[in-house]
Amino acid sequence: MLKEKIAKALREIYFISPFRRYFFYRYPYMFNPVQLMFLCQCIEKTLMIEGDRLEIGCGYGHTTVFLNKFLESSNALKPYYCIDTFCGFTIKDMQYEESYRDNSPNRYKEKFIINKKKWVDFTIRSNGLTNVKTFEADINSFNFEQNNIKKLSFCLLDVDLYLPMKAALEKVYPLMETGGIIIVDDCMPHEYFDGALQAYNEFIEKHNLPKKIVHERIGVIEKL
Ligand SMILES: C[S@@+](CC[C@H](N)C(=O)[O-])C[C@H]1O[C@@H](n2cnc3c(N)ncnc32)[C@H](O)[C@@H]1O
Repeated sequence: MLKEKIAKALREIYFISPFRRYFFYRYPYMFNPVQLMFLCQCIEKTLMIEGDRLEIGCGYGHTTVFLNKFLESSNALKPYYCIDTFCGFTIKDMQYEESYRDNSPNRYKEKFIINKKKWVDFTIRSNGLTNVKTFEADINSFNFEQNNIKKLSFCLLDVDLYLPMKAALEKVYPLMETGGIIIVDDCMPHEYFDGALQAYNEFIEKHNLPKKIVHERIGVIEKL
C-alpha cells in the first residue's frame, strides 16, 4: 500500500511539473489508427511470402514497435530492418528540394534531428523485440547486398523527400518477392512534403504499375 501511495504522489509531482506532457500518455504514432490498421492488413497479406521486412525512415521506432507487436501476436516475427540517418534529412536531399523543387531547406532542417540510433535500439529492446536490426545510414548510399539484405516481403518507405524516396524505391523494388508489398507514405499534395508523391508517381509510371493511394496518403505497390 505504501508503494502505491508513493507512486501516486510521484505521479502528482509529474502532473504539476512543467514537463507533464512527457509523463502522460500522448498518441505517439505518425499514422492515424485507420492507417495503422491498413499497414497491418498489408503485412497480413504478405505473411506467406518469403523475405524479410524493412522500414526506411523509422524515426523514433514507434511504428516499428507497433507493427512488430502486431506480428508477434500473430506468431509471425521474422527479421525486420530499419534504415535511418537518425539525425533527420541530409543536406543533399534538402538542397535538392530547394534547387529543383522550389522548397526552402528551412522547412526541413530541424525535423527528426533529436534522435539517436541507441535510443531507438533501446525503445525496440525494451519492448521485447529481438528481430529488429537498425542501420544508421543514408538510403541514397546504402548498399543492401553488402548488408546481407536479399529478399523482402514487406517494406514501409517513410523518408518524406523526393531524392531519398526515389532511391528507396529503386533499391527496394528489385528485392521484393512476388506478392510482396511496398508502402510509400506521404503520397499527397502538400506545400513542401510532396516529394514522396512525385517519386511514387514517376516510379509507377516508369514500371507501368497500377496507381493506388489510400487513406489520404498511403501509396501501395504490389510486386507482380
Ligand atoms: C516521418 S519520419 C519516419 C517516421 C516513422 N516511419 C514512424 O512511422 O514513426 C522520417 C524519417 O526519415 C529519415 N530520413 C530522411 N532522409 C533520410 C535518408 N536520406 N536516409 C535515411 N533516412 C532518412 C529521417 O531521419 C526521419 O527519421
